[in-house]
Amino acid sequence: MIRFLENFSLKQNNTFNINVLAKYYFEFTEPSELDLFFQSNKIWKDEKIFILGGGSNLLFTRNFNGLIIHPNVPGINVINEDRQNIWIEVGAGEEWDEFVQHCVFSEFAGIENLSLIPGKVGAVPIQNIGAYGCEIGNFIETVNGYNLEKNEVFELPGSLCKFGYRDSIFKNEFKGKVIVNSVVFKLEKFPEFDLSYGTLEKEVKKLGDINLRNVRQAVINIRSVKLPDVKEISNAGSFFKNPVVEVLTGKKLRKEFPDIPLYSVDKKYTKLAAGWLIEQCGWKGYREGDAGVHEKQALVLVNYGNATGSEIFQLSEKIKKSVFEKFGVVLEPEVNVI
Ligand code: EPU
Repeated sequence: MIRFLENFSLKQNNTFNINVLAKYYFEFTEPSELDLFFQSNKIWKDEKIFILGGGSNLLFTRNFNGLIIHPNVPGINVINEDRQNIWIEVGAGEEWDEFVQHCVFSEFAGIENLSLIPGKVGAVPIQNIGAYGCEIGNFIETVNGYNLEKNEVFELPGSLCKFGYRDSIFKNEFKGKVIVNSVVFKLEKFPEFDLSYGTLEKEVKKLGDINLRNVRQAVINIRSVKLPDVKEISNAGSFFKNPVVEVLTGKKLRKEFPDIPLYSVDKKYTKLAAGWLIEQCGWKGYREGDAGVHEKQALVLVNYGNATGSEIFQLSEKIKKSVFEKFGVVLEPEVNVI
């Protein structure tokens, strides 16, 4: 099924609930419909194209003068299994957290730490979603989609997706050039839990045994305390990435700010907690009109109602400037600013 609309309001299609218009909007549920669309309307190639998933990781700062493509391919299908693993192909249009719930209840392990992350499955490989010590890149077998430059379908093994911290080939070489239609995940039949992040283990033990359902519930409990629910307050999760700096820079910062959280990356690099840096600059709970900084997690910017995308962006720039002035660290947005 397709939907094609002109001057379409994207307010319901982005979790910041910014009211901007798209000149053209095309939604499809069958990969063949996308192929047909491009084969029969070559003129679309001249339009600026943006591929929109669940809209949970982006900020529109103005109307979009081009073509928005929204892949809404459904389906959760087991395509292979052996004694140890199960391979499941999931359509780009499925809600990520519904898939996680499905796996937890079916006793398929690996992605339970990624519970309650908003968004659709198609967007998951793009920014290599991660939380509580788990990154989805480690569970992606292949990404299937459509290459807009070559006009053909593609199947890319996870090992070639160049997954990094909130990063992948889809944010770089393939940016704007491919559309993800489905993702194949390789999950485990025998769980190996990773409860090492923060208070996760403590939270699971409060619920009883260490099993998939309790780990999922514990993650949901932790996230619900700190992170605003997009159904209540519009937001796009972490607005900035946690900055990665040289180990020496981390050590120097620790001398000046003994409480600064540092996470080891490798011999050369250390990761800082952007939320901590922002809170130290006094932004936590700050509000300017309807744009604000969440009161429990300073890394999350929020729209209390009618903020425009550019108001939220301007607030983010002020935060960036003050963090740079106090710590000499440059924050980079984690959300896609358009
Ligand atoms: N912190 C503060 N003040 C704040 C927020 C955090 O001092 O306002 C401190 C915390 O006390 C802690 C450290 O900063 O010492 C890290 O905080 P937290 O564990 O909450 O995680 P985070 O680094 O802020 C990252 C991800 C989240 C993910 C959590 C849990 C990024 C950009 N963000 O946040 O992902 O849920 O870890 O794994 O990596 C998202 O990407 O949208 C997202 C929510």
